Amino acid sequence: MLDDPKAIEKVDRQGMIETLESLPEQCEEALKNASQIRIGYPKPSRIIITGMGGSAIGGDLMRDWLKKDLRVPIEVYRGYELPVYADKKTLVIGVSYSGNTEETLRAFSGAIKKGCMCVGITSGGKLEELCKKNSIPYIKLPGGYLPRFAIAHLFLSMVVVFEKMRLCSDEQHIEREIKDAMQVLEQVRGQCKRQTPAASNISKQIAENVNGKIPIIYTFGPFKGAAKRIKSEFNENAKTPCFWAYIPELNHNEILGWESDLSGKFFVILVRDKKKETKEYVTRLEFTKRVVEKKAGLMELEVVGRTKLAKILSLMYIGAFASVYLAVLKGVDPAPTRLIDELKEELK
Ligand code: PA5
Repeated sequence: MLDDPKAIEKVDRQGMIETLESLPEQCEEALKNASQIRIGYPKPSRIIITGMGGSAIGGDLMRDWLKKDLRVPIEVYRGYELPVYADKKTLVIGVSYSGNTEETLRAFSGAIKKGCMCVGITSGGKLEELCKKNSIPYIKLPGGYLPRFAIAHLFLSMVVVFEKMRLCSDEQHIEREIKDAMQVLEQVRGQCKRQTPAASNISKQIAENVNGKIPIIYTFGPFKGAAKRIKSEFNENAKTPCFWAYIPELNHNEILGWESDLSGKFFVILVRDKKKETKEYVTRLEFTKRVVEKKAGLMELEVVGRTKLAKILSLMYIGAFASVYLAVLKGVDPAPTRLIDELKEELK
């Protein structure tokens, strides 16, 4: 079924797969769009990225990627009230694609009141109004995307803010990683697009493997944000429960769940980076794999690329394709997010 473009079109009525296939071009556009911003703040003592769902996840990817390059702590905050330690020396990046997400608006307004150094990233809405009213620098994103499909803009706009504020210790290294990642994304697009048959298309294979099961993504190291993102994509695009956990933590609790008779309902995608795995991680990953395989299906998903950013983004990209292919197999339109919208209406 996944090798029949007509069958895909029939379910994916708003063309989400096409949007995914244009991700590399969106990345170029995003860097250009964001480069307009002017930020006059001094160096912060900490960074808080605040947002929800598809708008927040770029923050996790930033943290995973740059944790070792940043001179200051970075955290992603999802909620209404910022931590008390957010102060005048804190850079708060408020991210909301729609610009109207309640929690993000409350947290960002709180940051303005506390005198934090604020930057906005949005396509409009109340967040844009707040930025304009308070003379806060912001990046205006193009409209017309669903928030999770605007990830190129959401993520790379943050990268540009970091670059403009010279927050990383080795800027040339950052530039090189971005260039490399863009090339790898093109390569992954070729491997995962509609026209590439399931026999050689890893995203279609994932979708076929998890169809009828509850997917779980097991990950480690700098791939936590990417795993969380894939989980959310399975939830939002394929409308299926999905979970994620990471090694080593899952070896201290979740692993015991595999003794249960319910285990057969799951299918595990085990993220691997075989050239970089240290001895203890190999032992943990292999042990976990043996435990799972006794009870459920499992496939390894090797990250693609040489640099950290390329690996993170390509993993996320493979997962995004897989989530839309799974939606197609299940016959559900990947675009609508009815329950999210209903709750947002109720909160108004
Ligand atoms: O992907 C989605 O549609 C959601 O997860 C949204 O990103 C989330 O509800 C927050 O909305 P926004 O991104 O507009 O702030």
